[in-house]
Amino acid sequence: MSATALIGLQWGDEGKGKMVDILAAEAELVVRCQGGSNAGHTVEVAGERTVLHLVPSGILSPTARCLIGHGVVLDAEQLLKEIDALEARGVATAGRLLVSDRAHLVFSYHRELDRAQESRRDEKIGTTGKGIGPCYEDKVARCGVRVGDLDRPEALERRIAQALETKRSRFEALGHEPPRLEEVLASARDLARRLAPMTVDGVTVVHEAMERGERIFLEGAQGSLLDIDLGTYPFVTSSNANVGGLLSGSGLPAQALTRVIGVCKAYATRVGSGPFPTELEDETGARLRERGNEFGSTTGRPRRCGWFDGPAMRFAVRVNGVTDIALTKVDVLSGFERIRFARAYETAAGERHEALPSMVDDFEGLRPVYEDFPGWEGELGGVRRYEDLPAELRRYVEAVEDYCGARVRWIGVGKGREHIVDRGEG
Ligand code: GDP
Ligand code: IMO
Ligand code: MG
Repeated sequence: MSATALIGLQWGDEGKGKMVDILAAEAELVVRCQGGSNAGHTVEVAGERTVLHLVPSGILSPTARCLIGHGVVLDAEQLLKEIDALEARGVATAGRLLVSDRAHLVFSYHRELDRAQESRRDEKIGTTGKGIGPCYEDKVARCGVRVGDLDRPEALERRIAQALETKRSRFEALGHEPPRLEEVLASARDLARRLAPMTVDGVTVVHEAMERGERIFLEGAQGSLLDIDLGTYPFVTSSNANVGGLLSGSGLPAQALTRVIGVCKAYATRVGSGPFPTELEDETGARLRERGNEFGSTTGRPRRCGWFDGPAMRFAVRVNGVTDIALTKVDVLSGFERIRFARAYETAAGERHEALPSMVDDFEGLRPVYEDFPGWEGELGGVRRYEDLPAELRRYVEAVEDYCGARVRWIGVGKGREHIVDRGEG
């Protein structure tokens, strides 16, 4: 048994898509396990950029099969658009892309509720508006509709009717017309035809792959600091983006995991609201945004940018049992005279803390305590060996591993699939 989980260690957009694409060359099955079309995973091959929201990032690797696991909330309309775009570019998905029958479906009323609720919130979360929160709410409230319901006409009608009934009063309170059963049913029946050939019992697919000795790769979405339990609540997403969520969302047993790869940028970004102690609302932040092209892959929003947050990273490494770090976008830092690394936080009263606060209010007035590193110059896109990276950058990489307690195995030096330094097994 040999399974790998790959997760984001920050607030998402760490470069997971690119890493999965690279590592999928060594996998037979790639599984998305949680989240939904709020994710935007970018893969760049030979200058061509593909942004995947639901399809696992292993799809561009010709050997891997891809499964959308049951922990995902599936916007089937979005999935079909993505499939059509891939097919139009000659990427075959038939027989290679599977969807778990246990996955919950996102309907238009989830998206509508998401946007309506967000617009009424005093303290905005900055959700992606993709219906993620409302769909997970239905799942937990046990009034969700699942992919496997689509080919059972009677159950489908009953479940959708029940789901709409539970929402009527909420829509009315928001001053919105409640969704109409006939319309939702018609669209569900339409989707059913196209989803049927790819619908499977995902747990069986995972376990049969294990029995055949296949290498399985779990692709996390979002990041540990957006995790519903471990993140900066309430400024989080609605799923478990940590390694536990990948196990429960795929049905892979914990003993099968031999490696947990944590992806983090060499600096930090966040889209949406919530605490971000190392945020730079100045020219340096703007320079990071411009050099790193930090604009959301899903919503196009400018990402907030800042320095590497050590305490937050160490927290994410610990809770996930990260065995290897992939440190991405070091090329973006080239040319900065001074690179800052937060080793602790200081409260307004001057107390020093090395732990990430558990309560959002405790971030108030918290300032990072920085260690400064000398910067480096030069274009790194052509570097493939660790020894060939500038000495100042190697010092920075070693500070990340010392502080976080996990080895940095991969270093991202550009957007493309080839732009990677692999230090090999330690
Ligand atoms: P994900 O959500 O974690 O998959 O990350 P996104 O795709 O949303 O955002 C990461 C962005 O950084 C994408 O535009 C990638 O093409 C880009 N990227 C990934 N790794 C690197 C890297 O090492 N260097 C540079 N310059 N860009 C990178
Ligand atoms: P990937 O997989 C970055 C953020 C949203 C918002 C919060 C809640 O590409 O890293 P939601 O729509 O999930 O209810 O929004 O979570 N968010 C992400 N930020 N990358 C993502 O995914 C994200 N998915 C959700 O911006 O702050
Ligand atoms: Mg993203």
